[in-house]
Amino acid sequence: MVRVCVVGGSGYTGGELLRYLSMHREAEVKYVTSREYAGKPIHFAHPNLKGFYKGLRFENLSVDKILGLCDAVFFSTPLEVSLEYIPKVVESGVKVIDLSPAFRLKDPDLFKAYYEIEHKAPDLARRAVYGLPEIHIYREALRGASLIASPGCNATAAIISIYPLAYTKKISYPVVIDVKAGSSEAGAKPTPWDHHPERASSTRPYSPKGHRHVAEVLQLLREFGESDDRVSLIPHAVPIVRGVLSSTHLYIDIDEQELVKIYVERYAGSPFIRILWGSPTPYPDPKNLVGTNIADIGFAVEERARRVSIFVALDNLGKGAAGQALQAFNISLGIDEREGLWIPPTRPV
Ligand SMILES: NC(=O)c1ccc[n+]([C@@H]2O[C@H](COP(=O)([O-])OP(=O)(O)OC[C@H]3O[C@@H](n4cnc5c(N)ncnc54)[C@H](OP(=O)(O)O)[C@@H]3O)[C@@H](O)[C@H]2O)c1
Repeated sequence: MVRVCVVGGSGYTGGELLRYLSMHREAEVKYVTSREYAGKPIHFAHPNLKGFYKGLRFENLSVDKILGLCDAVFFSTPLEVSLEYIPKVVESGVKVIDLSPAFRLKDPDLFKAYYEIEHKAPDLARRAVYGLPEIHIYREALRGASLIASPGCNATAAIISIYPLAYTKKISYPVVIDVKAGSSEAGAKPTPWDHHPERASSTRPYSPKGHRHVAEVLQLLREFGESDDRVSLIPHAVPIVRGVLSSTHLYIDIDEQELVKIYVERYAGSPFIRILWGSPTPYPDPKNLVGTNIADIGFAVEERARRVSIFVALDNLGKGAAGQALQAFNISLGIDEREGLWIPPTRPV
């Protein structure tokens, strides 16, 4: 049994991790932190988990406790918290899977450009493995990784949409990525803009002049020798709780069958990727993926305009966060990547 901790276990990604971990047959949760819920049982923060973690209570964060109790620790915390605590934990030999953006970007200049702070541990960021297993170079690097930087939810959808074209050198620029995102992306602590009356019927763009997740897409493209900067990603807040739908548009001469073949080949052997082409519902909808680690892909080639669109849907708390983090944890330990995650989506929701 792998002994695991969840730091920041009272938030949305922490709660989803705990839900998946309750089904994991090779991991045991030993320690879960929260300042607000310290001393309280898990279901006080996550009513859906009542009965699943009998005897376990939230505790305050202590690095000594992590080192004493755990073989692996998930940080479901804000970037600043991850940056502060993770270096010491990794140095001590405990495996870390960080869900925050703290270690996703290898280039400190790219990090500074998008997060507006100097990175405190750039060497560690260079050593971290970007936890998106469907990208073959990362899948290899994940085996035995000591620090896994779990990707952003919008970035995950965007990268899944574009990686097969980067791999086969078929990208053309500009690349326009339009993202629709649910309110749980913003975490469990409400802000005035995410307060229900403000958000419920609202549809609006946010960070349209350079959302942080585009930096992860640029990093991926650079890994495949691409250097063109004309890649944009604009998220839109839409009135759903969970889900990301990214629509990636580019202009290339390719017919739909050839396009689909590239994706089918590239994602063969990726159990959490489903190609919808040819099915009666060929375009993905995140509603069909709530509570899962699955990403669905659809395509549309408009021949007159020579426009190619790739649509990717996922659950921001699943494949966009906790599910993906657990999948990477599994791979890093040589456990079947589906462990704790292999559940069919619920319908209708
Ligand atoms: N939400 C998403 O869709 C999503 C997707 C991918 C990645 N992420 C990333 O995952 C991380 C967590 O996101 P989330 O949505 O789960 O956020 P959240 O719901 O706000 O939860 C944050 C957690 O961190 C703890 N925390 C906050 N400040 C802390 C501090 N100073 N010291 C110790 N613990 C602290 C909170 O508990 P207490 O305040 O009680 O201590 C809470 O358990 C973020 O970095 C986010 O960017 C989120």
